[in-house]
Amino acid sequence: MTNRMLPNILVTGTPGVGKSTLCTQLQERTGMEWLEVSRIAKENNCLEEYDEEYKCPVLDEERVLDEMEDKMEEGGKIVDYHGCDFFPERWFDIVFVLRTNNTELYDRLVRRGYSGKKLEDNVQCEIFQTILEEAAQSYQPEIVNMLQNDSMDQLEDNTNRICAWIETWKANRNAG
Ligand SMILES: Nc1ncnc2c1ncn2[C@@H]1O[C@H](COP(=O)(O)OP(=O)(O)OP(=O)(O)O)[C@@H](O)[C@H]1O
Ligand SMILES: [Mg+2]
Repeated sequence: MTNRMLPNILVTGTPGVGKSTLCTQLQERTGMEWLEVSRIAKENNCLEEYDEEYKCPVLDEERVLDEMEDKMEEGGKIVDYHGCDFFPERWFDIVFVLRTNNTELYDRLVRRGYSGKKLEDNVQCEIFQTILEEAAQSYQPEIVNMLQNDSMDQLEDNTNRICAWIETWKANRNAG
């Protein structure tokens, strides 16, 4: 059993599935703190050289974990990142993997200005369920949950579901 007064939640999934949109809502509704790993990395110089092939900076994982450790110990954190295998397993009480259907994801990424290999790689990442498998390999199966996130209705359902889970967690903790 954890000492944390509030749970820590991981929200992961392919770029464009809506992690940041969902986390913004969760932060507003719950008052928990949203930790956007890409932004933390950027702000704390945890980025290594730029990957020309994938057109994105490479994360210095050890440094970003050091940066996050104290905050995670406090509890009440919602971590948002498009990868999940390098975080300590003990950090999280639950993991949500957001999913988006291929055509919808493709449209979102095009709207964001992605093209060529970067666009194809990201859509393929979703088709191959890469992040879902990564989560399944990195965390206990009973804490890994898949959430379909194609539409605004589903976004609302997903927000409600996570808020309900948080309330249950708190109730169980106070009862225990
Ligand atoms: N449930 C949804 N229905 C429709 N559009 C959505 C939904 N969720 C997010 N979007 C839209 O999809 C785009 C990508 O969303 P967002 O930036 O939240 O994704 P992300 O998973 O955080 O991506 P990244 O990993 O690159 O940070 C945004 O334009 C957002 O408005
Ligand atoms: Mg994001």
